[in-house]
Amino acid sequence: MKRTKIVDLFRTPELVGKEVSVMGWVRTRRGNKHVQFVALNDGSTIKNVQIVFDLEKFSDEQLKPVTTGSSIHVTGLLVESMGKGQSVEIQAQTLEVFGTADPDTYPLQKKGHTLEFLREKAHLRPRTNTFGAVLRIRSALAFAIHKFFQEKGFFYLHTPLITASDCEGAGAMFQVTTLNLNDLPRTEDGSVDYSADFFGKSTALTVSGQLEGELGATALGAIYTFGPTFRAENSNTPRHLAEFWMIEPEMAFYDITDNMDLAEEFVKYCIRYALDHCRDDIEFLQQMYDPDLISRLKGVLAEDFVRLSYTDGVKILEESGHKFEFPVYWGADLQSEHERYLVEHHFKRPVILTDYPKDIKAFYMKQNEDGKTVRAMDVLFPKIGEIIGGSEREADFDKLNTRIEELDIPMKDMWWYLDTRRFGSVPHSGFGLGFERLVLFVTGMTNIRDVIPFPRTPNNAEF
Ligand code: 4AD
Ligand code: MG
Repeated sequence: MKRTKIVDLFRTPELVGKEVSVMGWVRTRRGNKHVQFVALNDGSTIKNVQIVFDLEKFSDEQLKPVTTGSSIHVTGLLVESMGKGQSVEIQAQTLEVFGTADPDTYPLQKKGHTLEFLREKAHLRPRTNTFGAVLRIRSALAFAIHKFFQEKGFFYLHTPLITASDCEGAGAMFQVTTLNLNDLPRTEDGSVDYSADFFGKSTALTVSGQLEGELGATALGAIYTFGPTFRAENSNTPRHLAEFWMIEPEMAFYDITDNMDLAEEFVKYCIRYALDHCRDDIEFLQQMYDPDLISRLKGVLAEDFVRLSYTDGVKILEESGHKFEFPVYWGADLQSEHERYLVEHHFKRPVILTDYPKDIKAFYMKQNEDGKTVRAMDVLFPKIGEIIGGSEREADFDKLNTRIEELDIPMKDMWWYLDTRRFGSVPHSGFGLGFERLVLFVTGMTNIRDVIPFPRTPNNAEF
């Protein structure tokens, strides 16, 4: 169908004075008995185009189905607008109604809705200004991520979603099975007989593509993944999802410093890309939700991230005199209140914390000489806390193998991973960026459920 997107009406001066054809969903209709004004949105931009219906040309009867939420096709003359805040409007010549939306049952009437209400209407919320803006920004960020890595010569590697290994070792995996749960096959000792399952072994949805990413990096040099990951942690927080998207670059011949440099350059690139390409949407969100949004985004771009060891970070927290909900001491896994204290109060800019105690980090991280810490790095952001987690990887076969044994990780699941250290092992590093945490930061939204179209959280898999 031939139509002009609304976004193009506003950025193509040559269209003024021409006949245009637009299609979209009605946001509002108002007016008097001589003229009616319809605000039309087609999702291409936060902006609505105003359509002017002269009631000498259109009857009440014709306009009656044009209510909030209905979908219409209008042709008319594009003219410069007198009204404040809009550069062009359309003088309607023809009207076709595609689909009506009963005002008594369509849930998104023009009054402002709470984000909680809209979560219950997640199937329709993309039609609101807020979610239109968030989803356009999300799309732009996804493109920026591919652009960044492709321009650097990284290869996009597709790692499996169904796996038999637990990368993070946290055991928070969703099992995948075709066994009949009401009639499970058993082995002689009474445990479930997974040899009878679809894959002939116990499988789950992946928590991370990193282990396969390392196979890619130690062949192609530098790869990135970008796909869904799954965690069955029962953490009902504004920063956790059971299904989230992660970007995991993995690079051969990178040490921890190279890794930090890349992580910093990468997030800054994404934020700058959004500021350059999503200005209208970001300005809208700033105005609606977060007056400091743009200055916070620019603030992150302006300065180098602080780089600090976990040990020094804990010292600052201990000496701060601040009363935290969770105790802080060397060895403690930092909570987001601790991370945010360092970033928002102490340094007032993003912090990369390194060299964490080995007992709170995954098995694959490079062990430091002190025998106590590993070459981990977490990037901590204002409002978010941890946005990136990564490390230099243990490249030494014996050290890695010993760690796997110490942690009782079943070797039969890990033989292929260990081959990267058995054959042509190289120093290498990587990290994972939680995509929704980046979208949270860039949009200024405060709940991760509001930056993914259909959130998956404990007790919620609607839509
Ligand atoms: O720190 P994490 O667990 O690290 C890994 O999975 C490594 N394999 C990454 C790597 O080195 N390749 O997760 C990485 C990031 C976190 O920093 C956070 O931003 C995000 O993923 N994340 C979550 N985002 C939303 N919901 C959850 N439940 C998340 N868990 C982690
Ligand atoms: Mg982490």
